[in-house]
Amino acid sequence: MKKITSEQLRNLYIEFFKGKGHKQIPSASVIPENDPTVLFTTAGMHPLVPYLLGEKHPQGTRLTDYQKCIRTGDIDEVGDSSHCTFFEMLGNWSLGDYFKKEMIPWSYEFLTSEKYLGIDKDKIAVSVFEGDNEVPRDSESAELWKSCGIKEEDIYFLPRQHNWWGPAGTTGPCGPDTEMFIKVKEKCCETCSPACSCGAFLEIWNDVFMAYNKLSDGTYANLKQKNVDTGMGLERTLCVLNGKESVFDTDLFEGALNKIEELTGINYNKDESTKKAFRVILDHIRTSVFMIGDERGIVPSNVDQGYILRRILRRAIRFSRQINLKEEGLLEVAKVYIEKYKDVYPELLKNSEKIQSEISKEYQKFTRTLEGGLKEFEKTVNRLNGDTIDGQTAFHLFDTFGFPLEITKELAKERNLKVDEEGYKKAFNEHQEKSRAGSEQKFACGLADHQEQTTHLHTATHLLHAALKKVISSDISQKGSNITAERLRFDFNLDRPCTKEELQKVEDMVNDVIKQDLPVEMKEMTAVEAKKNNYIGLFDNKYGEKVKTYKIGEFSKEICGGPHAEHTGQLGKFKIVKEQSCSAGVRRIKAILTNE
Ligand code: ALA
Repeated sequence: MKKITSEQLRNLYIEFFKGKGHKQIPSASVIPENDPTVLFTTAGMHPLVPYLLGEKHPQGTRLTDYQKCIRTGDIDEVGDSSHCTFFEMLGNWSLGDYFKKEMIPWSYEFLTSEKYLGIDKDKIAVSVFEGDNEVPRDSESAELWKSCGIKEEDIYFLPRQHNWWGPAGTTGPCGPDTEMFIKVKEKCCETCSPACSCGAFLEIWNDVFMAYNKLSDGTYANLKQKNVDTGMGLERTLCVLNGKESVFDTDLFEGALNKIEELTGINYNKDESTKKAFRVILDHIRTSVFMIGDERGIVPSNVDQGYILRRILRRAIRFSRQINLKEEGLLEVAKVYIEKYKDVYPELLKNSEKIQSEISKEYQKFTRTLEGGLKEFEKTVNRLNGDTIDGQTAFHLFDTFGFPLEITKELAKERNLKVDEEGYKKAFNEHQEKSRAGSEQKFACGLADHQEQTTHLHTATHLLHAALKKVISSDISQKGSNITAERLRFDFNLDRPCTKEELQKVEDMVNDVIKQDLPVEMKEMTAVEAKKNNYIGLFDNKYGEKVKTYKIGEFSKEICGGPHAEHTGQLGKFKIVKEQSCSAGVRRIKAILTNE
């Protein structure tokens, strides 16, 4: 196996697939635009969902990229050798183009060719889908692997639990997959397989043969087209190829790790608890840098993505106390990451000041109350009858001392105590209702589905956006959007409430355009052309060269992936039902379409 750096691995991957006719597309935001069922982009395919469902992608049918991903389900596991809350996924896609018989030989070539990863073929094992009542056994993939040169004993047939991927949210494209593993040590027993947890097999790549669409009623429909979706975890692959003990020993973390050692004078390998503190800080600060520095930047808050960021940052701060790393130190670590990633993700450098000021603000907020909270926690423990901290107390620690539930849980665990999570949720919800803080805000941005009514509301959102610009200020721009079949929700920058008159004007203007029954015209052009022609570039440079644009008469022009109504007459009557504050400097409008 070749020793390789993160930069080399990214470049080799992209170069290989460009050589197979793929277009490179840029990494999308860590906040998914088209999937309201999850908070973060969790896989490379996530931003491509509309295209996997059949929309035409401006760059064609063969795509490749590296994508920023966030998965926070295992946050408490961070500190071991492999879990990260942020990672990069290298991927390539066939949008109804090639399928298994091209993809498997390509995977084999990339893994084994000296020009690419140069892995000895006898070190590779693969798994394929064994089949069930709904989808047949994938003998074709097994045969293809065999004809490449993978021995029969290295091909494992595994059930759906292991060899089925997706959807990324609760609904969407999915299918059986074939996964590639490196055999890093002897099997633990006769029946050991890549499904075993002994660590003999480490997964590095996954080819999904995406031919199904999971619907909201839980059933699977055939997709219009057969796609391929692949994902190679950059951190994990680097770790295996370079024979490292953990992902934190790869070049991605090297500079930050050295910086912490330098600032604290403490050795990373001092003992297990020090190592864990280092790893938590290394992972969580990196994730915070990518969240805050994202093109759709997140700031710490008590809801949605902002809450996850707060939780991650506060956990990093809590562990930083253990090795005596202060605010300045955490900022230094953040700076090392910005420098390390600046050429690959230029948005980090662009948002460098914001990254530092948000980390700094959160540090100060949390440390101000941390001491008090820790004291309160100790008092609670001393008062405790039994082994469970009740929900009200856990909520009090959150509400008054800013302890995310997970920190209380972690502190409790260190003392063999439990936390009544149900009770916490109840107390939290009661509080939310009281303060009417918008607890319904469980959606991220984008369209919930592609039903006709949702599509119409999407078009209405463009009209609303244009009308707000004309009535209130040309500086207005979208800060978030969430569309279901029932209503649209649009967030935009404005540091005061809209007046009644303004809202009436906006509503009238939109209804006027609907009445004119203007065509909604889609056109592909380069981002530069779109900008020149005054299209609103919400997602500027997102899709490299060519972008999709939607134009509604001369009234609205936006770069957008669609889908939309065909003409405005289809929309019915537009009605604003609510205008409220969303967060500092951001207002939110909810609106509906009726048949009146
Ligand atoms: N979407 C697939 C994965 O995340 C490739 O593993």
